[in-house]
Amino acid sequence: MTEGDDHRNDHRSDFDEVDFSRVNRDIRRVDDAASALEVAAVEGVVIITGVEPGPRAARRLAWRIFGDRALAVPESAMVREGGEMDRRPDGLDHTTRSKPHTDGYSYGDECPDYFLLSCEYQSEAGGESLMLDGYALLEALAGHPGLAWLTEGLSTRVIDQTEPGKRLSHSTIVQTTPSGRRMLRRTADQVPLIDSDDPERDAEMIRLWKMAIDRAADAVEPSERPKLRAGEAVLVDNYRMFHGREAYADLERLMWRVWIWSDEAKGVPEGMLHSDSRFAAQL
Ligand SMILES: [Fe+2]
Repeated sequence: MTEGDDHRNDHRSDFDEVDFSRVNRDIRRVDDAASALEVAAVEGVVIITGVEPGPRAARRLAWRIFGDRALAVPESAMVREGGEMDRRPDGLDHTTRSKPHTDGYSYGDECPDYFLLSCEYQSEAGGESLMLDGYALLEALAGHPGLAWLTEGLSTRVIDQTEPGKRLSHSTIVQTTPSGRRMLRRTADQVPLIDSDDPERDAEMIRLWKMAIDRAADAVEPSERPKLRAGEAVLVDNYRMFHGREAYADLERLMWRVWIWSDEAKGVPEGMLHSDSRFAAQL
């Protein structure tokens, strides 16, 4: 086996040697919008307390946090069991943990760089937040020589990241934006390019990337995770963090989501915007 064949190894044992402990993020709580962005810029995520309920208040809060730095803050979208307008992957509902993912990937490379989730009603049983630090994950993987091909491929191998029927996205999983931020993605629709020169290697890279994220999610007990409560909102760096939630019991659980394009976003999509994929059809 040559170095170039590294992707054909069985990497389960490599992952046993990776330290995923720094990938799970504790979330700090602040009580003012003014310091929220500062904390999120450093830590990737922050919870804001004392938040007014409802969709309009969630959008106003996003405007308040970003001020002049907001390029687009569309109307809030209702999030109930995966979101009003979102596809729900087969076999997943409120009784299963959601896969940690990037939001807004219907917009491809122009996905929102931040988003806000305002909690109106929480489920007493379950529904804890999963927040995984993608930058820490890349660092953890980079520390393992057997996975060098993987971390390299994530920023050099162009794959197809287009959600069916939505904005075209042929690009690398890890990118650096013109403003210098690294943008990472984990979505349900990452596949090798149809004309890839090495589809087998690309498929293995994508499979391991997702496996690494899921392994990191498994590293913390659900009961040790923070839960968003009514009157709280979480602000997430969508380029850096993968987010999900634990299974929950109460179907009344209700959040309002606001997608945010700041002046550091890779780009603002053309056309009308909403905080879900309703306007993201392929142009
Ligand atoms: Fe999401």
